[in-house]
Amino acid sequence: MRITIHEIQAMKTRGERIPMLTAYDYTTAKALDAAGIPLILVGDSLGMVVLGYASTVPVTLEDMLHHIKAVVRGTERALIVGDLPFLTYATPELALRNAGRLLQEGGCQAVKLEGGAAIAPTVRRLTEAGIPVMGHLGFTPQSVNTLGMHVQAKTAAAAQRLIEDALLLEQAGAFAIVLELIPAPLAQAVTERLRIPTIGIGAGAGCDGQVQVLHDLLGLYTDFVPRHAKQYRRLADEIRAAAGEYADEVRRGAFPTRAHSATMDQAELQEALRRVADRGAMPDANP
Ligand code: KIV
Repeated sequence: MRITIHEIQAMKTRGERIPMLTAYDYTTAKALDAAGIPLILVGDSLGMVVLGYASTVPVTLEDMLHHIKAVVRGTERALIVGDLPFLTYATPELALRNAGRLLQEGGCQAVKLEGGAAIAPTVRRLTEAGIPVMGHLGFTPQSVNTLGMHVQAKTAAAAQRLIEDALLLEQAGAFAIVLELIPAPLAQAVTERLRIPTIGIGAGAGCDGQVQVLHDLLGLYTDFVPRHAKQYRRLADEIRAAAGEYADEVRRGAFPTRAHSATMDQAELQEALRRVADRGAMPDANP
């Protein structure tokens, strides 16, 4: 049985911190599920870390569906949240159609969308239709072209707006809110004022949970390492080393060995060679 949004919310009530990670494919999703990660986000960060775009803006709903399906196939227990990409929730009706596709065709259990007061009616429309919604405030990557990539809400006015946006999303029915790149004391103040969990990324330790982009955590994506990311491994180095060793062994004839190869009865091979020789160099096209 998969974890539900109610179990995630109960974790806040119990004071249990919530670990969340992104995943984009079957294999890594399976490993995260086995590690007991309760919340997995198929983030539109896949635009950068998997598809090689400069931002999340080019990611399409079809891209999201493709990756959500793989992550759902790889997991049994985690609650899967799929990002609604740029401009796919510009109106409540558009959001309903597209979020519905992520749940019905993709198989995820919830969607995430970015924004505050302006999207509260959309959040209400989705939750009333039975679609669990995770909000996303602070630095919202789909608005990188207007916001720039830096810590948000550092002034009193911007911090007030963020707190009010969070309360509006909660009232509209969001089951949790991601807080990205905001000052830690502000994230803590938001967390204390909400009944629903906050999930921080670059928002300090005072949130109810934390989310990281898996490729940052594993040291797989090294084009840009954000300050808030912690590399628990450096797998890009491991991959480079393993690929180098493989290439070297192939060039030297050291791989494959007998252990990696199949054998056959010598008599069968001799018979096959004899038959080929009997028919001449070229077999008939239509025997
Ligand atoms: O797309 C993503 O990975 C995200 C996280 C940064 C929260 O939205």
